[in-house]
Amino acid sequence: MRPISGFSKLTKNEKINYIVQNYLNNSNIAKNTIKSFWHEDESSQKILDEFSENTITNFAFPYGVVPNVLINNKMYCVPMVIEESSVVAAAAKSAKFWLDRGGFQAEIVDVKKVGQVHFIWNGNPEDLENLFINSKTQLIEKVKPLCLNMEKRGGGLLDLKLINKTDLEEGYFQIWADFNTCDAMGANFINSVLEALGQEFKLITESELNQELQVIMAILSNYTPDCLVKVWVECPIEELNDPSFGMSPEEFADKFARAVRIAKIDTNRATTHNKGIFNGIDSVILATGNDFRAVEACGHTFAARDGQYRGLTNCSLENGQFRFELELPLSIGTVGGLTALHPMAKTTLDILGNPDAKDLMKITATIGLAQNFSALRSLVTTGIQKGHMKMHLMNILNHLEANEEEREAAKLNFEDKVISFQLVREFIGSIRNYQ
Ligand code: MEV
Repeated sequence: MRPISGFSKLTKNEKINYIVQNYLNNSNIAKNTIKSFWHEDESSQKILDEFSENTITNFAFPYGVVPNVLINNKMYCVPMVIEESSVVAAAAKSAKFWLDRGGFQAEIVDVKKVGQVHFIWNGNPEDLENLFINSKTQLIEKVKPLCLNMEKRGGGLLDLKLINKTDLEEGYFQIWADFNTCDAMGANFINSVLEALGQEFKLITESELNQELQVIMAILSNYTPDCLVKVWVECPIEELNDPSFGMSPEEFADKFARAVRIAKIDTNRATTHNKGIFNGIDSVILATGNDFRAVEACGHTFAARDGQYRGLTNCSLENGQFRFELELPLSIGTVGGLTALHPMAKTTLDILGNPDAKDLMKITATIGLAQNFSALRSLVTTGIQKGHMKMHLMNILNHLEANEEEREAAKLNFEDKVISFQLVREFIGSIRNYQ
């Protein structure tokens, strides 16, 4: 295929034609599929198009909701955007289970965010350190205009430090900045302040110390271990008395706690364990128009903060009490970015009662914990496949374009049987031949 220049300048239809002609065998069906996901309302489509570049259509994901999520005695119905079957059902099951046992508790540990100016300076470190101390007020003054709005809302630049990293890389220093960005995720604010700090400190240093300071980059860090939320559930062990467990509350609690500990000590298991937590977290993050890549990157770094990647949840069984907890950093916002621009992100926030960023941290982490509870509950009792297979069967039936009658027959037939694509196809085939 020859490279194309000026692709971004083509109209949407021209872009689609190019794709269909060059990559989709000129298929009209493919062209119609692409166009069938256009929003029927032109202005809504324009909003979606402008979030990105070279857009030719929309990619639809299911938007589900989890009712009965009781957090700190407040009831929520939580929207989740996710394509994986059984995730929403698992969260709903967990929410219901804990509703009957006092619900979820949540608290914010801290909301600090960070950014760094990475720079190279090959002079005497002591001179630089003294200069930084003496020019800190000037640096803060310089970025004051950029901080005014954030300060009005109760946030802003909290602190500035100079960090000497020359033991790791020749001449490498950082200006480290702490921020409070209130209800905004704050990326633009932080990055603008950092760039201004970098430029100003370069000017000051080069004029005072007569030696070049090379700014390498100025950027927020997505690792925000001090933007931390904690959520937990607890109840007397004897209340873990669900008949579907098929075992005593004590045995369930013991197996459950052991599963959590295994995720703490085994990296392979920890990865899957945390994947399940992020099934919940990412779907709320997506539904609220937040940045799931940032949240994931941060969560995984946090999971490896002591040098080994570990499960993010903790479980204790003390004095007859079961306590299951998730603590993780979540740097998210409820104003700015996509949160108000994407009509469905806005609807999500409306459904959630327009939470501030702290409440959204609590809600999101709760769904992560709920998800992990459901996953472990299945894993240590019936196994994960029982629940999954029901959904799998639905997907296969959709694929085979089964009608209502065929679906009902298949559900009945496969209730207590192994499900595979081939077996379901044969079963549906047998009904169709019979007819
Ligand atoms: C599947 O998407 C997630 C699980 O594998 C998580 C886990 O094993 O804890 C069920």
